[in-house]
Amino acid sequence: MPTPSPARMHEFEVVSNEKIADGIFSLVISAPDLARAIQPGQFVNVAVPGNAMSLLRIPLSFESVDPEAGTVTIWYAVVGDGTNRLSQMQPGDRSDLLGPGGHGWTIPEGCKRALLVAGGIGVPPVLCLARELAAAGVAFDVCLGAATAGKLVGVADFERLGAASVHVCTDDGSEGACGFCTDPASELLAQGEYGYVATCGPEPMMAKVAAAAAEAGVPCEASLERMMSCGFGACATCAVETTGGMKGACMCGPVFDAKEVVW
Ligand SMILES: Cc1cc2nc3c(=O)[nH]c(=O)nc-3n(C[C@H](O)[C@H](O)[C@H](O)COP(=O)(O)OP(=O)(O)OC[C@H]3O[C@@H](n4cnc5c(N)ncnc54)[C@H](O)[C@@H]3O)c2cc1C
Ligand code: FES
Repeated sequence: MPTPSPARMHEFEVVSNEKIADGIFSLVISAPDLARAIQPGQFVNVAVPGNAMSLLRIPLSFESVDPEAGTVTIWYAVVGDGTNRLSQMQPGDRSDLLGPGGHGWTIPEGCKRALLVAGGIGVPPVLCLARELAAAGVAFDVCLGAATAGKLVGVADFERLGAASVHVCTDDGSEGACGFCTDPASELLAQGEYGYVATCGPEPMMAKVAAAAAEAGVPCEASLERMMSCGFGACATCAVETTGGMKGACMCGPVFDAKEVVW
């Protein structure tokens, strides 16, 4: 059973909104109550002004939070009308969002080493988890994938957080190894003594990671993306097929036990 959504409406002000990679922006918003409440892996549902015909909010994870400054940092890819309008918001612009939504990551008790696997714009919630692992003194290795070097984000951030190793792969070989980051992830899982695997990115990538983790007998969580109309359990657009039936990603996820997901 999903627990009641802790999501509340928050007004926010844009602090900065800058391009950090090819088609990818970093948005810093000031929303002090949200910054005190949101947990790694949760998401916000953002209203973007500028299109009277568009009623839908945009679900977005966050990359980091500063509760003292009252700010939340979001990394997003421009893919359509909503994210394009978001990329045009300027410092000082205001709007509102609904959040925090859903459930975040659960690091298994006693975990000493974790493997993080992130692809494309799946990096932000995984980076957020890496901050939590670093703060808890849990060692972690990272496998990062992107289509091409220009779309790669987070490498320096994972290194700064003290990742034991960072394995970079690009589909075209323009940075790191040529290929998918599921390859080093499977190799590490076969060798390593991991207590936890966490993944976010394209669904086929997460399915492979989930299978490799299951084979190695390591608990694995995956943060799933779905279309979301309401973001608080009222519409069923975000359904995920699980071994326990259909579940809404906005309330029962977006982070799921990977064994529970029908990939
Ligand atoms: C829980 C959650 C967390 C997310 N976190 C991030 C994040 O941190 N950074 C980020 O860049 N993106 C994230 N997304 C995806 C983001 O919500 C979509 O890219 C965005 O809603 C697209 O809106 P748009 O109006 O620009 O595109 P549209 O014009 O609506 O659509 C453009 C393309 O994006 C696809 N799309 C639209 N909505 C979604 C969606 N909810 N999920 C997946 N694909 C979608 C459409 O099928 C279409 O191919 C997240 C999605 C979810 C559900
Ligand atoms: S988005 Fe409406 S129920 Fe999940």
